Amino acid sequence: MAAHVLIVLFVFFSITSCVSIGDDQVLVEFKELLLNTSLLDSSWKKGTNPCDNNNKWFGVQCDNNNNNVIQALLLGGIGLSGNLDVDVLISLQGLRVVNLSNNSFSGSIPEFFRLGALKSLFIDGNQFSGDIPPDFFSKMASLWKIWFSRNKFSGKIPESLASLKYLLELHLENNEFTGTIPSLSQPNLATINLSNNKLQGLIPQSLSKFGSNPFQGNPDLCGNQIGRECKAVIYGEKSESSGSTKWIIVGLVVVLLLVAILFKSKRKDDQFEKLEKENLDEAVKVHLNKRSMSTRTSMRSSRKGRSRSGSDMGDLVVVNDEKGIFGMPDLMKAAAEVLGNGGLGSAYKALLGNGVLSVVVKRLRETNKFNKECFDAEIRRLARIRHKNILQPLAYHYGKEEKLVVSEYIPKGSLLYLFHGDRGTAHAQLNWCIRVKIILGVANGMKFLHSEFGSYDVPHGNLKSSNILLSANNEPLLTDYAFYPLVNNSQAVQSLFAYKSPEAILNQQVTPKSDVYCLGIIILEILTGKFPSQYLSNQKFTGTDVAQWVQSAIEENRVSELIDPEIETEKDSLEMMEKFLYIGAACTESDHDHRIDMKEAIRRIEEITDLM
Ligand SMILES: *[C@@H]1O[C@H](CO)[C@@H](O)[C@H](O)[C@H]1NC(C)=O
Ligand SMILES: *[C@@H]1O[C@H](CO)[C@@H](O)[C@H](O)[C@H]1NC(C)=O
Ligand SMILES: *[C@@H]1O[C@H](CO)[C@@H](O)[C@H](O)[C@H]1NC(C)=O
Ligand SMILES: *[C@@H]1O[C@H](CO)[C@@H](O)[C@H](O)[C@H]1NC(C)=O
Ligand SMILES: *[C@@H]1O[C@H](CO)[C@@H](O)[C@H](O)[C@H]1NC(C)=O
Repeated sequence: MAAHVLIVLFVFFSITSCVSIGDDQVLVEFKELLLNTSLLDSSWKKGTNPCDNNNKWFGVQCDNNNNNVIQALLLGGIGLSGNLDVDVLISLQGLRVVNLSNNSFSGSIPEFFRLGALKSLFIDGNQFSGDIPPDFFSKMASLWKIWFSRNKFSGKIPESLASLKYLLELHLENNEFTGTIPSLSQPNLATINLSNNKLQGLIPQSLSKFGSNPFQGNPDLCGNQIGRECKAVIYGEKSESSGSTKWIIVGLVVVLLLVAILFKSKRKDDQFEKLEKENLDEAVKVHLNKRSMSTRTSMRSSRKGRSRSGSDMGDLVVVNDEKGIFGMPDLMKAAAEVLGNGGLGSAYKALLGNGVLSVVVKRLRETNKFNKECFDAEIRRLARIRHKNILQPLAYHYGKEEKLVVSEYIPKGSLLYLFHGDRGTAHAQLNWCIRVKIILGVANGMKFLHSEFGSYDVPHGNLKSSNILLSANNEPLLTDYAFYPLVNNSQAVQSLFAYKSPEAILNQQVTPKSDVYCLGIIILEILTGKFPSQYLSNQKFTGTDVAQWVQSAIEENRVSELIDPEIETEKDSLEMMEKFLYIGAACTESDHDHRIDMKEAIRRIEEITDLM
């Protein structure tokens, strides 16, 4: 018993003795490691109260309404240097403001994050240098004013700034920060200054309200805001210094070519094989590393010779920076995977360095109808589209031989894959409700394209299930649209699905109604769950001529037999499904003149879905 009392007493005294370290002692201890403290020496005396109004300590501000708690250290512009003992200050629990502006502190940034309750930190006008760790601010959730300007900080602007909910003022001007600007979207952010650093890349959209002034003096920043186009220059005269980049690019070209060759020879294989996941999604995984690039010397040197003339490998031009900015080097560093070989060319998937964005790189064959300026204008036009059912390109590369178009990678994959790939596991999950959503979304996208590109012979031109991707919430996204003007006529016949419409087969003629035919095939594919033989270029493989099948079923009055067994069980919707089959039939009417037009097709689809 006595022992217990002793222990309790002992604990009690140790606690009180901790508490009894006065604020005076804390500050004096803090001052001990500072240099040139002559201005502090006369008032900062142990044993006196730092908050005593009659004997105020220099630069110490107390909250007189709150038990004389020290709330600010205002020590700006008084010639201080030496070491900042942040740990000692932890016991000043009311401290909210630290102002050390215009002194002579140097070295790497002290661990101010240990003062988790700080609201304002002013250390501008010192000689601090080096990187600030990315997570520096993650434990300083109360911070609202940060003044770090006029130091020598380098490295990236810490990402954790983005997590400061109350951030109001951010001053990082006149340092040596590099890299891209993190996306800061705090609603309260009122002042920002990042001028005179070495920042690069796109200014995030979220900072557009600040105009150009806060970003001046960063020659490598770009974006509309400062009137400088984002263009990742990766080849040619300007990249003289980065010889290794050249090798990497040459390496990628070699890999792309090899993969293309590989695919060309593989095309003779069973087409259905390609629809399996490993073939459609992960056919060949190409990890770009030094070893895979160092083996093809002859190819490499011939490429190198050509590229020196600056014509073959140009730049990667970013046309839509909403998903971030990247250049050819990012693509090069990324692990590439072959996705498949579509009508227009092969597609590759690449996960960009930061792992945040996966992109699909499509290699367009036979798009040499236009010079670079026209190609650029055309792709930019596509990139400006904003529609929830349309996937826009993010970037392109225009080389004499290579033309690449980069867009976001959509993980769920294409309708073609979902319906016919992977031996039906995804197919079974496409219930009726999702299928209606897909049809309606495709119709909406087509409606938009037909008004936007109404002047084209065929506004989409390549609508088929492999060019419809499904977002995470089952919203369809159209891709590969409006390429018609880019494609060399003789090749269009082979590469655009609109050329599989009966009128095109008969007399090489495409019209906006050819898109209607393609839409009809999609509707029938979704309703029947069958693989349309129309997609096949080789008679050897089996599909279902869905257009023919539905026409004869209508004649023989057995339309209901066509419905996909996977959705047949949803009895309440059978009538609606049949209505869709009739629309599909009207769209795939082989007589071009008797086929309904896009307006009418969409009207009929909307008419059904409005009743839902
Ligand atoms: C920092 O403190 C000084 C006085 O030491 C003051 O003049 C200055 O305005 C303060 N800086 C900020 C940003 O509040
Ligand atoms: C710090 O120095 C800058 C530039 O010399 C000056 O504009 C500013 O008023 C000074 N601030 C303080 C707190 O001394
Ligand atoms: C020491 O501080 C005074 C002002 O208190 C300043 O004028 C002087 O330049 C400082 N000396 C050094 C070496 O920083
Ligand atoms: C940002 O800092 C620079 C350099 O000190 C200055 O010229 C500019 O006016 C500041 N801009 C803003 C918006 O504070
Ligand atoms: C179309 O492409 C083919 C094969 O690439 C080429 O021979 C032909 O000259 C091209 N025609 C036009 C008009 O560019």
